[in-house]
Amino acid sequence: MCGIIGYVGHRRSQDVLFDGLRRLEYRGYDSAGLAWRENGRTECVRAIGNLDSLGSVLAAHSAATDASESAAVATATVSAGIAHTRWATHGGVTEDNAHPHTDWSGRVRIVLNGIIENYLELRDLLADEMIQCTSETDAEVVAQLISFYYDGDLSEAVRSTVSVLSGHFAFVAMCDDDPETLVGVRRECPLVVGVGDRELFIASSISAFVEHTPRVVELHDGEIAVMHPSGLTVFDDNGLPRDPQETRVERDEDRCEKEGFETFMLKEIHEQPSAIAETLRETRAALAPRENHQLGLAQLRNVRRIIIVGCGTSYHAALAGRMAIERWARVPVEVDVASEFRYRDPIIEPGTLVLGITQSGETADTLAAMRLARARGATVVALTNAPGSQATREADAVLFTRAGLEIGVAATKTFVAQVVLLYALALDLARAQDALALDRLAELQRDLDLLPAHVEHVTRSVDGQMRQLAERLVWSPFFLYLGRLSGLSVALEGALKLKEISYVPTDAYAAGEMKHGPIALLGRDTPVVCVATEEGVLPKLLSNLSEVRARGAQVLAVASEGCKQIAEHAEHVVYVPAADSLLQVVVAIVPLQLFAYHLARARGLNVDQPRNLAKTVTVE
Ligand code: AGP
Repeated sequence: MCGIIGYVGHRRSQDVLFDGLRRLEYRGYDSAGLAWRENGRTECVRAIGNLDSLGSVLAAHSAATDASESAAVATATVSAGIAHTRWATHGGVTEDNAHPHTDWSGRVRIVLNGIIENYLELRDLLADEMIQCTSETDAEVVAQLISFYYDGDLSEAVRSTVSVLSGHFAFVAMCDDDPETLVGVRRECPLVVGVGDRELFIASSISAFVEHTPRVVELHDGEIAVMHPSGLTVFDDNGLPRDPQETRVERDEDRCEKEGFETFMLKEIHEQPSAIAETLRETRAALAPRENHQLGLAQLRNVRRIIIVGCGTSYHAALAGRMAIERWARVPVEVDVASEFRYRDPIIEPGTLVLGITQSGETADTLAAMRLARARGATVVALTNAPGSQATREADAVLFTRAGLEIGVAATKTFVAQVVLLYALALDLARAQDALALDRLAELQRDLDLLPAHVEHVTRSVDGQMRQLAERLVWSPFFLYLGRLSGLSVALEGALKLKEISYVPTDAYAAGEMKHGPIALLGRDTPVVCVATEEGVLPKLLSNLSEVRARGAQVLAVASEGCKQIAEHAEHVVYVPAADSLLQVVVAIVPLQLFAYHLARARGLNVDQPRNLAKTVTVE
């Protein structure tokens, strides 16, 4: 979490940095700040809340700068600065805790992403040197240490500082004594350099600067980048300069714009059909080369067990994937929350394939789980939506979802893309393991290809109904979500969507488990949302719904077209096109996404930036 960016070059750095922050805002929006050189001094603005607040502070600052100073800026040859958008880890959401952080003398400034684990210990050591920190953050400790070690060479001061830090982090520092130099360093948190014409960028993600330059230098763990308008120097973790090899990235076509939609989340829900189609295309192309490939026929034939690790929505996609792999390929699958897996001393036997699923490719717990599995001998495959992300470097092979950039913090199109990716992999595995008849395989492939059209149809046809239901149920105090088998993964994901963006308490349960506890919560004002798309267990589910309604709770059911019985067991039924039960996951989630969306909007909430959340969770 947190997005950082630095710039040195001939443009007005404050403009470049603010634009870059817009593309990093998904990483956190508790507060934001910017420091830049102007007229021979360092200016710094900070604001609580999202970037709109920072934009107002910046505008007020510009207005206060008199015309002669502005003219001086326009003629200045080099402009440098750093900026930050924060997801709070250490210290509350206050202006004091907002970045950039400065040392006691106001000479050194830094922006940091990540966690300094030993910051309390270091703060005590600084106090022994009569240096007092004024904020509660771990980042300020870093600024103070750089200043403490500074002896005329910023990169040396950064190196000395890094040598005493534990944790995972990336930061960029600037110093008034050397105003045209920025120094960046990373350890297990992303940081990439962009190389332009007499200008350099550094940021948590390429997307922050790719509109200015496609030339990128990837930094490895422990490396230090020294940026000056005259050029870039990269030092490896032994302090030796290395050739900063550039790669070219495709210009990011995903625009950070709502394109006529009222929110990013709604736009992204509407982009699900293409996310599915693109992911299917990509996955088939990736799995096609059958030889000398971590996912080649021979390798898949030898898989004896699969473990899928992920967090949040990715974990829910993994649950759907498990059903598909076990049902179609008959390979046993275990799914674990990554933060649990990494600490439970997992058993990895020969023939175990571990799938790390993470749309951002940066989730700290998922990365740690993948690392552990690899260290214990598993073949690890990353399933991610982010080319170049850390997950792609931690794996033996990578499969990409092609959902495009997702800005809304609540995952929508990345979820459906993850599910279809797992389904395509399940079919490939079924083929490799001779677990399905060829005509059944072909039938499922065809059904998969119909999903974009089904999802498009559902999105259009149920939107109005979901809005009405959401408005009717908007002040319900609690929602219980129920499902069975693959319907359970939809129920879990639907419940997560509602609680994330509307802050209404929800719980999700396997319907058969409901009477073992959660039924105690039910009454007239507690709606039950039920996913009734698994044909094989429909009669069981209907009797669960009878138990619900006997307690006076009203039922909102998502069912397949043609399922007549459901109408007698639910006050409200939303029909989705009928298909194979497993494939229904991808269509059945759409009404629940829309329900959560409209309910949160009816409550007047910011669905794209729900409180306390961030798009990437790079801390444990
Ligand atoms: C989804 O709506 C959430 N924002 C969250 O649960 C997310 O899925 C989780 O943090 C995992 O993220 P990842 O896919 O980037 O690893």
